Amino acid sequence: MDLSVSIAGLTLPNPLIAASGCFGYGVEYADVVDLSTLGGVAVKGLFLAEREGHAPPRIVETPSGMLNAIGLQGIGVRRFIDERLPELRRLRAIVIVNICGTTLDEYVEVARILSDAEGVHALELNISCPNIKEGGITFGCSLPGTHAVVSAVRKVTSLPVIPKLTPNVTDVASFARAAEESGADAVSLVNTFLAMAIDVHTRRPRLSNIVGGLSGPAIRPIAVRMVYECRRAVKIPIIGMGGIATAEDVLEFMIAGANAVQVGTMNFVDPFIWDKLLTGLRDYMATHGLTRLQDVVGTVDASAREKAWVSS
Ligand SMILES: Cc1cc2nc3c(=O)[nH]c(=O)nc-3n(C[C@H](O)[C@H](O)[C@H](O)COP(=O)(O)O)c2cc1C
Repeated sequence: MDLSVSIAGLTLPNPLIAASGCFGYGVEYADVVDLSTLGGVAVKGLFLAEREGHAPPRIVETPSGMLNAIGLQGIGVRRFIDERLPELRRLRAIVIVNICGTTLDEYVEVARILSDAEGVHALELNISCPNIKEGGITFGCSLPGTHAVVSAVRKVTSLPVIPKLTPNVTDVASFARAAEESGADAVSLVNTFLAMAIDVHTRRPRLSNIVGGLSGPAIRPIAVRMVYECRRAVKIPIIGMGGIATAEDVLEFMIAGANAVQVGTMNFVDPFIWDKLLTGLRDYMATHGLTRLQDVVGTVDASAREKAWVSS
């Protein structure tokens, strides 16, 4: 059975990637998961410098999901290269570095530094973090901003460039198109949905940052719809995510149009999820007589439904 995926010349053994911010720098999970068996590890977002992130409370549980406003706490790109990357190389992980910036120049500088580091396989551009005041989502919510970041990073690296799109826009497909036109090798989506929770007794927001990003199964159907829309808009590979908890969820994203997927929030619930997802994918392939998993990508049959809509 062939579960592999090819993204801009990078071959992943399977489509299951750990989502940024939900898997540390990968090495923290090495005792429970053999990182070389994953399709890839998208590490926590990195700026040039270290960041402390927001004060607690930074996480709130919500129905079928969670709300977070970590504020991109991180060790900075140079410490990552010195302290984490050697171990990731030794563990033979496929490393996708999620990069952040408060300015365009910072994205470019972080990309340049990582491009010279051995063991980095791709760059995921976080232009979609809802939890910081500057950078992040302000680029990802504007078509010229998306174009500017993607094309500037494209010029300084030969690594695959994967902008990560925000769902906090009216027409996500136009952002996927802008990314493709600016030289992106793939797009990933979705980052979290801007959201808020309030303690009615104190009448205070539950997060110190007041608002945060919603993730987990609660967002999955919206994320699937967005992947479907992007698949119709672009030719480049799509990495889909949002609430994946089972192999069936992975397949739903792939049939909607994702070539690969990321799993975030469910890592906190079940760090052993990866074997279960792989087994479920193999079972599905056996049941449906598939030899290549990529053959399901974008195969949703929407025609019957379209006719039903017209007649109702
Ligand atoms: C605690 C937490 C931290 C996150 N940190 C990042 C981050 O650093 N960079 C990023 O691009 N996305 C980050 N995300 C978003 C996830 O990578 C993912 O896009 C989102 O959670 C949807 O997937 P899920 O429902 O499987 O978690 C974070 C999500 C959570 C829950």
